[in-house]
Amino acid sequence: MLARIVTFAIDGVRARRVWVEADIRTGLPAFTIVGLADKAVREARERVRAALVNSGYEFPQKRITVNLAPASLRKIGPGFDLPLAVALLVASGQVDGDAVDRCALVGELSLTGEVRSVSGVLACAEAARRHDLTRLVVPRGRVREAALVPALEVLAVDALTELVDVLAGRAEPAALPVDDEVDEAADPLPDLVDVRGHNALVPALEVAAAGGHNLLFYGPPGTGKTMLARRMPSILPPMTADEALDVTRIQSIAGLHRGGLIRQRPFRAPHHTISAAGLVGGGSSPAPGEATLAHHGVLFLDELSEFTRPSLEALRQPLEDGHVLIVRGQRALQFPTQCTLVAASNPCPCGREEHACRCSAADLARHQRRLSGPLLDRIDLLVPVRRPAAAALRDEAGPASVDVRKRVVAARERQSRRLAPHGVACNARMTARQLRELTNATPTAMRLLYDLHDRHALSARGHARVLRVARTMADLDGADAIAPEHIHAAAGLRLEAPTTALAA
Ligand SMILES: Nc1ncnc2c1ncn2[C@@H]1O[C@H](COP(=O)(O)OP(=O)(O)OP(=O)(O)O)[C@@H](O)[C@H]1O
Ligand SMILES: [Mg+2]
Repeated sequence: MLARIVTFAIDGVRARRVWVEADIRTGLPAFTIVGLADKAVREARERVRAALVNSGYEFPQKRITVNLAPASLRKIGPGFDLPLAVALLVASGQVDGDAVDRCALVGELSLTGEVRSVSGVLACAEAARRHDLTRLVVPRGRVREAALVPALEVLAVDALTELVDVLAGRAEPAALPVDDEVDEAADPLPDLVDVRGHNALVPALEVAAAGGHNLLFYGPPGTGKTMLARRMPSILPPMTADEALDVTRIQSIAGLHRGGLIRQRPFRAPHHTISAAGLVGGGSSPAPGEATLAHHGVLFLDELSEFTRPSLEALRQPLEDGHVLIVRGQRALQFPTQCTLVAASNPCPCGREEHACRCSAADLARHQRRLSGPLLDRIDLLVPVRRPAAAALRDEAGPASVDVRKRVVAARERQSRRLAPHGVACNARMTARQLRELTNATPTAMRLLYDLHDRHALSARGHARVLRVARTMADLDGADAIAPEHIHAAAGLRLEAPTTALAA
C-alpha cells in the first residue's frame, strides 16, 4: 500500500514542502529511504522502527521504500521522523489516510515514541498556510511558534500514541496554551545611564539607532567603546509585526529560540575569531551566519581590527545589499542581512593615545589593512571615543535610555511614514534614487553639501552617506526638510575621520 504525507524541509530561511511517500509491499524485510536525505534523515529508520514498536504499533516486516520528494531538495535534520512514522502507519493500514488529508507534520521521535522539538517550526507553519493546508502537527514545545500563523489549526503532541488517538477520533486534541507575552521580559538591558563622561557621543548612537546607520567607535582602551555599543539595544525602536516574524523565523531555524514572537531586536556580538562563513552564512548545508542572525537588529564587531581580513571582506556586500546569496551544489540560497553594523576598535595596535603612540609605521600599516578602506567606507558614522576627563567621569552620568529611545522611536515613525510605501525600513536602507527623491533638503543645505563635497573630496558614496545621516538628524529634530545644520552635523560625524590612526 502507498501513503503520502506532507512535511517541510528548511531551505535557507524558508520551509519547502516535502512529500513523504511510503510504499509497503511483500518481499524480504527491508527499509530504504531515498530522495537526497542527509545522515540524520537516514538514521530516522532506526528511530521510527523503535518508536513504532515501543508505542504498541506493528512495524511491517515487509519491503518498505520511502521516497522524499522533490528529490532535488536536500532534506536535513530529524524533523522527518514523525511524518515518516505516520506514513508507515497509513501505508500499513493502522491509521486512516483520510485523517491526514490536508495536514502536515513535523517532529523528531525518541525511541519510546515521544515527539521531540525541532527547529524552524514558524517557517513550516507559514509554508503550510501557503500551501493551503488546514492542519499542522508540531511537537508541543513549539506550539506557540506555530500558533503565530493565523487560520491554521495547530495540533500539539507529546507522543506518537497521542497523535494516533486524535487522528482516529479516540481523543480530543489538547488545548493550546494561551499566548502569554511574558517570556520576552528577560534580563533588563544595560542602560546608557551607566556611561559617564560621554554624553557628547550619545547623539551618534541615537542617530545610528534611529536611522539604522553603521557606526564605528574608535579610541584608546578602557574608554567605554564596548560599553557604549552594548547599550545600543536599550534605545532601538520596536520591531514592526513583519520584522518580528522575520526575526522569530530566523532565530527558530538557527535553533536559538523557542516560544512565541520575539519582540526585541537581535544584538549579535560574535568573537573576532569567527570565520567568514560564520559571519555571513555558509557550510555544506548552508546555515544562517551572524549577519543573518542580526537581521533587523545589530551586529556588533568588537575589536574590529582583530577580525580576519577575509571575514571583514565577506561582510561588505551583505552590508550593502541587505542579503547574501550562498551557492552550494547548484542551489543558490538567499539569506537576509539587513543589520546595523556597530564596531569598536583601538586606533592602533598599542592602543595608546595619539601623542603617546609607540607603534611602528609597519604596525600601523598592518592594522589599517585589516580594517580595509571599503569596509570603513560602508560605515556612516565614525566616532572617536576619547578618555573622559576625571570630573566628567565623576559627575556626568549618561541620559536614561528610555528618554533616548523615545526620540529614536519618534524619528523611526517619521521615516516609516515616508519610506514604508517604498518598502524601506529606515534611512540607511534608501537606494540612491530614493535618496534623491525622498530626502527633501533645502537648497542651502544642498549647496552646503556640494561645497563639502568639493572641499573634502567626498566620494559619491560619501556624499550619499552624509545626506542619509542628515535625513536621520532631521527626523530626530522632527523637521520635514534637511536644513544646513543637519548637513553640518552629519558631515561632522564622518569627516572627522580617524585620519592619523585609521584612514589609509
Ligand atoms: N565612560 C565610562 N563610564 C563608566 N565606566 C567606564 C567608562 N569607560 C570605561 N568604563 C569602565 O571600564 C570598563 C571597560 O570599558 P570598555 O570595555 O567599554 O572599554 P573599551 O573602550 O571597549 O576598551 P578596549 O579597547 O580595551 O576594549 C567598563 O566595563 C567600565 O566599567
Ligand atoms: Mg572593548
